[in-house]
Amino acid sequence: MNQKPTTSLIIPPELAEYYGRRIRLSVQQFPGMPIFVSQLFNELKQEETDMRVLSEQLRVDPGITVNLLRLANSARFGASREIKSVHEAVVRLGVRRTTEILLAFHVAGHFSHPLKGYDLSASELMKHSLWAALAAEKVCTEIPDAPSPEYAFTAALLHDIGKVILSDFVMEEQPAIVQLVQHEKYSFDEAEKRVLGWTHAETGSAILNHWNFPDLLIQVARYHHDPGQAPEEYRMLAGIVHVADFLAYCQGPGAGVDGFSYHFREAVLERLPLNKSVVERIAGETLEQVEAFNAALGL
Ligand SMILES: [Fe+2]
Ligand SMILES: [Fe+2]
Repeated sequence: MNQKPTTSLIIPPELAEYYGRRIRLSVQQFPGMPIFVSQLFNELKQEETDMRVLSEQLRVDPGITVNLLRLANSARFGASREIKSVHEAVVRLGVRRTTEILLAFHVAGHFSHPLKGYDLSASELMKHSLWAALAAEKVCTEIPDAPSPEYAFTAALLHDIGKVILSDFVMEEQPAIVQLVQHEKYSFDEAEKRVLGWTHAETGSAILNHWNFPDLLIQVARYHHDPGQAPEEYRMLAGIVHVADFLAYCQGPGAGVDGFSYHFREAVLERLPLNKSVVERIAGETLEQVEAFNAALGL
């Protein structure tokens, strides 16, 4: 199962070129993130991010204010008295959690349509991504020298964003992709590569590049199904997201059509000291948190 499959195209080169042109155009036309959200991505690690500045940025967006108050008041975050203001919510949740919910809120806006190519209903990709994000964050806390949990959360939240574009293309070539997956045991992304010339992982990394996001996020999206191929400095995070993605498929909702053909890369476990009981604990804790996030985001 882990031997390298051929990635040679099974469609004529002119058709592959045509798909490539359309995919690149879709990436160029993909809606952007608000500038202050992009800035937050770049400031993720700065513990000293000013709570008051963050509160001010949040207050201008009524949608996020409602979600944030809902999350801060949920039992999961130990609400003992009612939180009524954005600033109080930021204090209760902390800067990191607040930033993450803000990112999730904006990412959810991009994931709001059904993706027929992957057999995902309107909220399923978001639920899957959130599951992976919360699990990836927890995996980080188990591993010495792991990247910071906020990077893991963000990278996992965005790992499948390419599906938003590639779904329509997958629909166009569904019979050929299904043939490779069901009868020739290709993973879904390998089948995408052979039939369209692009995978959802490559498409996602192109979107993040288009958004000028950090190289770390671009590379992890690109290699989340094959972390061993990621540049050395990003390999561990790509492996963490791979594990979290697999857990999300096994435990979370929204497996979609490609979840059943997931090729888990056992080699990532050589770098990540995770045993069965740790993985089970991570899955249990993630499940609890996911419910609070889903409720806060109205999923
Ligand atoms: Fe994926
Ligand atoms: Fe995924």
